[in-house]
Order: sequence, then structure tokens, then C-alpha cells
Amino acid sequence: MTPKTPSESRTTMTDMVLPSETNALQNLFGGELLARMDRAASIAAGRHSRRITVTASVNHVAFNLAVPLGSVVTVEAAVSRAYTTSMEVYIDVWIEDRYNGKRTKANEAIYTFVAVDETGKPTEVPPLQPETDLEKQRFAGALRRKQLSLVLAGKMKPNDATELKALFMES
Ligand SMILES: CC(C)(COP(=O)(O)OP(=O)(O)OC[C@H]1O[C@@H](n2cnc3c(N)ncnc32)[C@H](O)[C@@H]1OP(=O)(O)O)[C@@H](O)C(=O)NCCC(=O)NCCS
Repeated sequence: MTPKTPSESRTTMTDMVLPSETNALQNLFGGELLARMDRAASIAAGRHSRRITVTASVNHVAFNLAVPLGSVVTVEAAVSRAYTTSMEVYIDVWIEDRYNGKRTKANEAIYTFVAVDETGKPTEVPPLQPETDLEKQRFAGALRRKQLSLVLAGKMKPNDATELKALFMES
């Protein structure tokens, strides 16, 4: 299969925060943001694989900054590494200043998607070829994140997670 770049899957969704989507502090409800990120990431995984994709796991979410009611929120997702049938998708969330348009990074997350056929059976995806420094950095860290996710899901023995173990040996 011909490799694809992250820019070929990059998906950008911009929307406002409405009152029905906020918590008691009038900030965006965490579950609402998770859903927005899942949608953008699903489109990105679909663009990379040109297949039906399902969310296999949410590997990491950092709610660093609250997102107030009325904010203009941009969710940007792109495949950061592809394996045999699974893809890691990195998601960045930005808030846009209403008056000067300046964007502030609010949150980020990492999801894993699997490409499947019409019967739900995992199917092969193209490899990923990172281009920019950031894409290369995310690509390089992805294997240990996959191993951590598989170990936590009980699908890999900790002893077999060689990349992950190496991370702890280094320091
Ligand atoms: C995701 C799903 C297709 C995986 O099926 P499976 O039988 O475990 O398939 P496999 O063991 O062959 O795994 C397929 C790929 O997913 C990866 N994978 C599975 N679980 C994973 C996890 N928790 N974290 C990271 N990767 C995972 C495997 O490593 C494998 O990757 P690779 O082929 O690129 O090496 C299946 O569990 C499923 O359909 N789950 C429901 C998905 C869904 O409905 N999501 C929405 C939730 S509401």
C-alpha cells in the first residue's frame, strides 16, 4: 500500500459552545468535547484508510484549559501512526479569541481507530509517512503508547512491551 502523510487525513472542525453543552461552571462539558474529538478523529482515520473505522480506545486525554460558554472551538485531528489495521489519531483542541482571532491550545487527546470491513473484521490500512518535526515526534512516540494501551486492555503482556519498558530503563 502507498504511504500517506498526516496532512492527507487532517480534519478540522470548528464549532461554538452552546448552553446545553456546559457544566455547572458554564464551561464545556468533558463528554461533549470527547464526542467532538471522536467525530473529528473518526473522519481523519477514515480519510487515511478509506474504510469504515471504529474507535478501539481513548489512550490519553488532557483537559488542560476550561472552555467557556460561547467559545469558538477548533478540533484538529490527524493520523499520527498507522500499523497493520489500527491507526493512532492525535487531536489538538484550540480556542479562538473572539476579538483578535488568536488561537490558544486548550486540550489534546490521542485515540486509536481500527479499520474494519462491512462485517466488522479488521482490515489493512496504508502506512503513515510523517513530514514535519512534530509529525515525526508523534510518530516516534506512538509505538510505546500502543503498547501501553494494549497492556492496560489486557491484550499484551507487560513483558512483551519492549518499547514501553525501554522508556523506563532510559532514566
Ligand atoms: C476495535 C476492534 C475492531 C478490535 O477487534 P479485535 O478482535 O481486538 O482485533 P485485533 O485483536 O485483530 O486488533 C485489531 C487492531 O486493533 C489494535 N487494538 C485492539 N485493541 C486495542 C487497544 N485497546 N489499544 C490499542 N490498539 C488496540 C490491535 O493491536 C490491532 O492493531 P494492528 O492490526 O494495527 O496491529 C473490536 O474490539 C471492536 O469492534 N470493538 C468495538 C468498537 C466500537 O464499537 N467502538 C465504538 C465504541 S461505542
